[in-house]
Amino acid sequence: MIIQKQNGKAVPVQNSFKEKFKMVAKTMMGLEEVLADELRAIGAQNIECINRAVLFEGDMRLLYRANYTCRTALAILKPFAEFEANNDQELYDQVYRIKWEKILDVDCTFMIDSTTSGEIFTHSYFAALKTKDAIVDRFRRNFGQRPSIDTENADYKFNLHIRDNQVTLLINSSGDSLHKRGYRQAVGLAPINEVLAAGMIKLTGWKCDTNFYDPMCGSGTLLIEAAMMAMNIPAQYYRGDRFAFKRWKEFNLGEWKSVKQEEDRKIGSTDFDYEIWGNDIDLNVLSQAEKNLQFTKLHKDVMLFNGSFEDQDPPEGRTLIVTNPPYGERIKIEDLNAMYQQLGDTFKRRYGKDCEVWLITSDFEAMKHIGLKPSKKIPLLNGQLDCRFLQFELFEGSLKENRASRSTGARGDTGASRDTGASPVEKERGTGVSPVKKRSTSASPVKERSTGASPVNDNDNN
Ligand SMILES: C[S@@+](CC[C@H](N)C(=O)[O-])C[C@H]1O[C@@H](n2cnc3c(N)ncnc32)[C@H](O)[C@@H]1O
Repeated sequence: MIIQKQNGKAVPVQNSFKEKFKMVAKTMMGLEEVLADELRAIGAQNIECINRAVLFEGDMRLLYRANYTCRTALAILKPFAEFEANNDQELYDQVYRIKWEKILDVDCTFMIDSTTSGEIFTHSYFAALKTKDAIVDRFRRNFGQRPSIDTENADYKFNLHIRDNQVTLLINSSGDSLHKRGYRQAVGLAPINEVLAAGMIKLTGWKCDTNFYDPMCGSGTLLIEAAMMAMNIPAQYYRGDRFAFKRWKEFNLGEWKSVKQEEDRKIGSTDFDYEIWGNDIDLNVLSQAEKNLQFTKLHKDVMLFNGSFEDQDPPEGRTLIVTNPPYGERIKIEDLNAMYQQLGDTFKRRYGKDCEVWLITSDFEAMKHIGLKPSKKIPLLNGQLDCRFLQFELFEGSLKENRASRSTGARGDTGASRDTGASPVEKERGTGVSPVKKRSTSASPVKERSTGASPVNDNDNN
């Protein structure tokens, strides 16, 4: 225990790591509740969901842990000043009074993001400029030098938030957005944002207790996020050291290492004994997925197939299917309506009662051509695109179309499509490389499960 003298009395110094403070976790529209669940699970308190963010309380260890583990957070911000300002001069004066030298050094770089609402501060850029002026003027007067601005890669990112006359200054503890997981070695034409991919999987309520399949997997984002969840790999395991809080003056390496070790020890602690499969028609994009999987050392846990989705069975047994088909925005498909109709037909004919299907799309016209009524429609944003995340529950015998196709003897009612009698293709595991399977038949390939410890454990990115 460290003892300090205060007014002649000896008092123990409070361990600042136990002090609780407010934080803000930023996320995407529609993912607030799943992020709140993630924060609750790591011990956050006083959780409140607001638009595209979650407010919560915790100590510095929780700040580290939230950054390292939350799959649906884009950034963790720590408020450090709150005051009233009724005009530009008051904003300048209040910002000037803050002891900025306790936060950053003159040789650092910083930037300010701002959002304003209300009648007083109508231009967020101008408010940010005033704030910047106050910071650099304080440094210049006290130290004769000033920190520089870097809008691309600043050491310190501040958020200025003004609502009417209420000003809050926050520091971004994450740095680069947390969707930059560090595992992307290669991407296809339209990769999905990693935070959105993780959020979609969480929105399905998946408990890692079924197979997982993406029939249009592209560069494999959904597969990797699913595999990381299944194996309890922290969201930022592959990110390395790129967290802004590591540059803070108050950064405590020992506490960070202890949080990281606690989380890393959980890797592979789940009993996940299911298949994770991906399929894509484009062999080039599939090889990007393979590169990403090899980088994460998850290539032995995920099986990739090359072919059109309608020719590929899902894994045997209960399977969650989550996919991000083309919307016609970045990937041009000649007849998107026909493709979505084909998707619906595939759900009905090739997937069965063991499958629950979810897909995200921004093409509301094409969506109608799936020919099945979604049981859930969740609004999400993919970049700027207004999307719906749709759930289709498949009940054997309950679909009119399915019954009709069976009575006319059409191929593949939900049970029969699996039972083609074709010999299964086994995945070659000895090479350590996940082979991309070129489909030539509609046979269901069988994968041998890997034995031994999860290969991800030997990645030390402390
Ligand atoms: C929006 S991208 C998926 C991106 C992926 N989620 C990622 O993060 O990289 C859609 C994918 O569907 C694939 N695709 C298009 N038509 C297909 C088909 N008939 N069968 C299988 N895949 C198809 C494209 O090659 C593309 O990779």
